[in-house]
Amino acid sequence: MKIIATSDGSNTLFDETLDETYHSVHGALGESLHVYINHGLKRLSPQLKSINILEIGFGTGLNALLSIDHQAPNTKINYYSIEAFPLSEELLNTYYHGFSEKPKSLADLPKMIQAQGLQTINEHFNFKLIESKLQDLNVSKQEFPNFDLVYYDAFAPSKQPEMWSLETLRTVANLLAEEALFVTYCSQGQFKRNLKELGFEIACPPGPFGKREITVAKKIKAIV
Ligand SMILES: C[S@@+](CC[C@H](N)C(=O)[O-])C[C@H]1O[C@@H](n2cnc3c(N)ncnc32)[C@H](O)[C@@H]1O
Repeated sequence: MKIIATSDGSNTLFDETLDETYHSVHGALGESLHVYINHGLKRLSPQLKSINILEIGFGTGLNALLSIDHQAPNTKINYYSIEAFPLSEELLNTYYHGFSEKPKSLADLPKMIQAQGLQTINEHFNFKLIESKLQDLNVSKQEFPNFDLVYYDAFAPSKQPEMWSLETLRTVANLLAEEALFVTYCSQGQFKRNLKELGFEIACPPGPFGKREITVAKKIKAIV
């Protein structure tokens, strides 16, 4: 695993086995803010007292930290993140050390990666890290709430097609509340058709850095 500087002063990781970066090389921080915070978290009503977020691919924890930084003042977040290959604390320390502007909640990261079960990170943010492949998850054994928002941050369909298949997406869709949002940087056609088949309404706002579209989908059918 290599740490790589991106154009906005933040870092990403390069996975040599997959030949893939964890984020856009134009800006890890900017991408995460644009896709998951601005088109995800901030699309939910700030009046909501409690929000349940599911993340696929905890990785560096950037999306989780930014969710703390940008949560509405009176909203409580319960954040569940599924990660097949957790990174070491040592690597993450080096990774964030190089950021020109660090997430404000960075000091919370050690608590997150050491969390056993649902952990209180602060009075408004609970967190659970689930070390598993999404496809191997025994959903009936997990005490999941109905999720209001999904950050789907898997590697690209060209590298990990199984993460974007109808069956894998069905597992996630079945964990969501009605009207829940599903947000991802990916805009691949087959993936969007799969979401439509699972009862989602699709919107495609522009991507970060003038790049192609991202996907914001709303679950409109109760049962898929
Ligand atoms: C594109 S990276 C993004 C990670 C993270 N959101 C971040 O900002 O650093 C994809 C992540 O998905 C994880 N992953 C790969 N296969 C997985 C699987 N089958 N189930 C769950 N997570 C997986 C990888 O280990 C990696 O951390």
